[in-house]
Amino acid sequence: MRGITTMHYRQAFVRHFQGLDIEMAPFIPTVSADRINPKLLRDILPENNSGLPLIPQLIGNKANDFVLMCHALKDLGYDEVNWNMGCPHKPIRKKQRGAGLLPHPDLVDGLLEKVCGQSPCRISVKVRLGVADKAELQKLIPVLNRYPLSEVIVHPRTAEQMYDGSVDLDAFAEAYELLEGPVCYNGDIDRRSFYSHVHERFPEITRFMLGRGLLANPFLCEEIKNLTQSGVTGNQVERITAFHEDLLSHYEQILHGDHPVLGKMKEFWTYQSKPLSNGRQLFKKLKKTQTLHSYKAIVREFLSGAQWTPAPCPDPASLYNCL
Ligand SMILES: Cc1cc2nc3c(=O)[nH]c(=O)nc-3n(C[C@H](O)[C@H](O)[C@H](O)COP(=O)(O)O)c2cc1C
Repeated sequence: MRGITTMHYRQAFVRHFQGLDIEMAPFIPTVSADRINPKLLRDILPENNSGLPLIPQLIGNKANDFVLMCHALKDLGYDEVNWNMGCPHKPIRKKQRGAGLLPHPDLVDGLLEKVCGQSPCRISVKVRLGVADKAELQKLIPVLNRYPLSEVIVHPRTAEQMYDGSVDLDAFAEAYELLEGPVCYNGDIDRRSFYSHVHERFPEITRFMLGRGLLANPFLCEEIKNLTQSGVTGNQVERITAFHEDLLSHYEQILHGDHPVLGKMKEFWTYQSKPLSNGRQLFKKLKKTQTLHSYKAIVREFLSGAQWTPAPCPDPASLYNCL
């Protein structure tokens, strides 16, 4: 997730939590050959990896640039690259990047033909249902099926929805029926019970991508895979405390001055405060903090009084709306 799951976040995450099989790096915009510099690729340099397999992600709509970047990624040792056709942000969409490609099957066809024909890496894509219209993905699927994509990750919302409302599992089911290659489900997995519902409805799916839910509850993969006993409150707050200290000390080493470090850590708490009993107050207080000194005192105070209260199981009626 761009801006949040940096290499520093990913390294620290894997030191403290288990259950993840693979990571996808935040998207990198495609650029022309002369602008592919080490800074652009720094986040995914193998020496910076967490130890888990990593799939780099590109966003763009120029086949030549895409292919050249795939060569640069192959040189770094990557065999697979994901193409982001799902980013919902308007400035990106307007340039026919991210989800902006979804309403243009002919354009995507031409791009995939070149990229799949010339890329030294396998290509996977990440899509939404459409920009405004859910039928857009359905029209795109025959194009996707023409290429040997290593997987299609489907987030069943439209781009205009951004992250509002609930995921549309019926629309996902229709897309899943039509897609011929491997499919990965993505969207709203923020608790084990929702994972189980998706898994029960689509038992053949073995690939799940987690986003915001995992940032809020880093134990989620452990819970899903039964690696941990959920509900051990003290232990979980202690583990979050250790993770936070690890990440903070990393950012203090590589960023200069209080402000950049505070910026990163405030983003961290956007998600990480949610399952803490006093998380709302913590986040409110942190927003106004201007110095690392006061930041540390506030976090220490709140974590020492926090209880771990992850998202409760929704009532059956609201789950039914999602299914
Ligand atoms: C702040 C933020 C940054 C994101 N950055 C990326 C990104 O770089 N690449 C990507 O494929 N998805 C990105 N996403 C989308 C998530 O990967 C995911 O598809 C979306 O949040 C829905 O899944 P979730 O409900 O599990 O979070 C981002 C989402 C957010 C909120």
